[in-house]
Amino acid sequence: MITFSTWEWIRASGLSAYFLLFLSVCFGLIQNMNIINRNIRNVLFLMHQTAGWFAFLFAFFHGLLLYFDDYQPFSIREIFIPFLANYQPFFTGLGIIAFYSMFLIFVTTDLMKKVGRNIWKTVHLLILPSFILVSIHGLFIGTDTEETWGKNIYASAIFCFSILTVFRFLSKITVKNNRNRG
Ligand code: HEM
Repeated sequence: MITFSTWEWIRASGLSAYFLLFLSVCFGLIQNMNIINRNIRNVLFLMHQTAGWFAFLFAFFHGLLLYFDDYQPFSIREIFIPFLANYQPFFTGLGIIAFYSMFLIFVTTDLMKKVGRNIWKTVHLLILPSFILVSIHGLFIGTDTEETWGKNIYASAIFCFSILTVFRFLSKITVKNNRNRG
C-alpha cells in the first residue's frame, strides 16, 4: 500500500488549495462580466462559491498539518501569526495573510446585511492581491517549484488571472461610459 508522509500531504493540500482558489477567483471574475448570459452567470456563481469554500478547507488543512510534521514542525503561533515562523517567515507569512483574507470574505458574506455592500465588496476584492501573495508563497517555498511542471502551474495561473482581471475591470469601465453617454 502506498503511504504518504505529512510533508507530502502538506504539499498536496497546498497545491489543491491554490488550484481551487484559482478556480474560484476565475469563476468570480467571469460571472461578474456584463457580456455573460444570466443563466451561465448563475452556474458560474455557484462554482465560484463552492470552489472558494473548498479552497479555504484545503488551506486550513495545509496549514494545520505543519503542526504534525516531524521534519519541520510549526507551533500553533507560527501557523496562525504571520511572519513568526522559524522556517521562511516572510513567505509563510504571505500564505497566512491570504488565508485570513479568505476567512474575512466568508465572515463579511455571512454578515453582508450588517456590514453593508460597500465593505463586503472591498473585502471581496482583497482576494485579488491575496491571490498574488499566495502565488509568491507557493512559488518561493514550494518543493514542487523545483520541477518544470511546478513552475508552469504558477506561470499559467498568474497569466490567466491577469488577463481576466484586466477584462473584468475594462468591462465595468465600458458599461459606466455607455451609461454616462446614454
Ligand atoms: C490561502 C492559503 C494557502 C494556500 C493557497 C497555500 C498554497 C501553497 C502552495 C501551492 C504551496 C507549494 C506546495 C508545493 O510546491 O508542493 C505551499 C507551500 C507551503 N505552505 Fe502554503 N498555502 C496557504 C497557506 C499557508 C499557511 C497558512 C501556512 C502556515 C504557515 C503555509 C505554509 C506553507 C509551507 C511551510 C509550505 C512549504 C511546503 C513545501 O516545502 O512544499 N501555507 N502553500
